[in-house]
Amino acid sequence: MAVTIKTQREIDLMRESCRLLAKVHDELAQAIEPGISTLYIDQLGEKIIRGYGCIPNFLHYNGYPASICVSVNDEVVHGIPSKDRILVEGDIVSLDCGLIYKGYHSDAARTHGVGTISPEAQKLIDETRNSFFEGIKYAKEGNHLHDISNAIDDYISQFGYGIVRDLVGHGIGTSLHEAPEIPNFRQKRRGLKLRAGMTLAIEPMINMGSGDVDWLDDDWTVVSSDGTLSAHYENTVLITDGEPEILTIL
Ligand code: MF3
Ligand code: CO
Repeated sequence: MAVTIKTQREIDLMRESCRLLAKVHDELAQAIEPGISTLYIDQLGEKIIRGYGCIPNFLHYNGYPASICVSVNDEVVHGIPSKDRILVEGDIVSLDCGLIYKGYHSDAARTHGVGTISPEAQKLIDETRNSFFEGIKYAKEGNHLHDISNAIDDYISQFGYGIVRDLVGHGIGTSLHEAPEIPNFRQKRRGLKLRAGMTLAIEPMINMGSGDVDWLDDDWTVVSSDGTLSAHYENTVLITDGEPEILTIL
């Protein structure tokens, strides 16, 4: 499918969808503490989303059974919430979630520390977030898509971390996943030309080790192959002819 350029009306709807999602993330961040289950996070998130009159877009997406992807430590993405998975001090937990507002999707992810975490884990979280901001320096009309990918890769390479290559960012709008795919690692081709009105979910996933991943037998949970910690940071971004608008930050 071709990349969609949103109209002004659609941009306004995307803005509102994303603003509400930013609030969901802020509320979930407040709830993270040792002793809670990953299912609790999912239930809380679904309640907040529905409280805004919105629909959780991950729920039943290709059969995914929850509203929030909750991925702990070596889990990269798509962890399935469970009442038996209890967060403990020192864990890191990635929350990925999205919602639909008046037909328009939003998508964002954050990694949080549970209680006090190691400096190494905090650095992984911080640099994963920083890599997103390095990438979006290039997210403006006239640049090329892979300028973003290359900037993320160039930034992350200095730390010896592994970029997850099996999963990518994506366009977003009336569907959760639209064209184009947005890799987080260096590309040989420059990719499509960015145009104002594109809305993109840019989402580096970074492992302390190699960046290789495996899928668990639950068909969803993606884990680092070497068991190292993994962090994820994602926002839905609007391309303009100037600075990009990060729609999922308040
Ligand atoms: N948030 C994921 C993404 O960024 C999508 C998760 S869909 C689910 O593409 F079904 F796994 F929840
Ligand atoms: Co996404």
